[in-house]
Amino acid sequence: METENSLFHWKKLEAKGDDNGSLVALESNLNIDFDIKRIYYIYGTKSEFIRGKHAHKNLRQLLICVSGSCKVLLDNGNEKEVIELSKPNEGIYINDLVWREMFDFSSDNVLLVIANNFYDEDDYIRDYEDFINLVKNANN
Ligand code: TYD
Repeated sequence: METENSLFHWKKLEAKGDDNGSLVALESNLNIDFDIKRIYYIYGTKSEFIRGKHAHKNLRQLLICVSGSCKVLLDNGNEKEVIELSKPNEGIYINDLVWREMFDFSSDNVLLVIANNFYDEDDYIRDYEDFINLVKNANN
């Protein structure tokens, strides 16, 4: 499954294995659409907590729930969509200038994030009004 819209790009990841278990291998520019510069993962998030609440000026990311499930709200300033991540062989690509909020984390959730750039606090847009203004300016 591979679906593209203006907010995200679903990617079905090829899993290798048999009844004993499965393995997913991700390689820069082969089955990942960018050069991998950073990997981080989020776990132990309480179900009532909302993570994210930011956008990026210039960052591409692939999100995979390698364990459990969570929901992701994506908002490009014009449209919003909530998607559920619940399979370790599915991922979503998120482009820059997309506001994201992650919530409804299951207790066993481990959310893996693969990014095309290093951590840079200056790349974050943490204020929603700033985000909307940046989107408007980008569209002009
Ligand atoms: P943060 O981005 O606030 O997580 P969330 O937006 O999901 O709540 O990150 C939490 C802390 O970790 C913050 O101090 C920044 C730091 N951090 C890094 O050092 N490197 C990273 O790659 C990321 C994503 C965060």
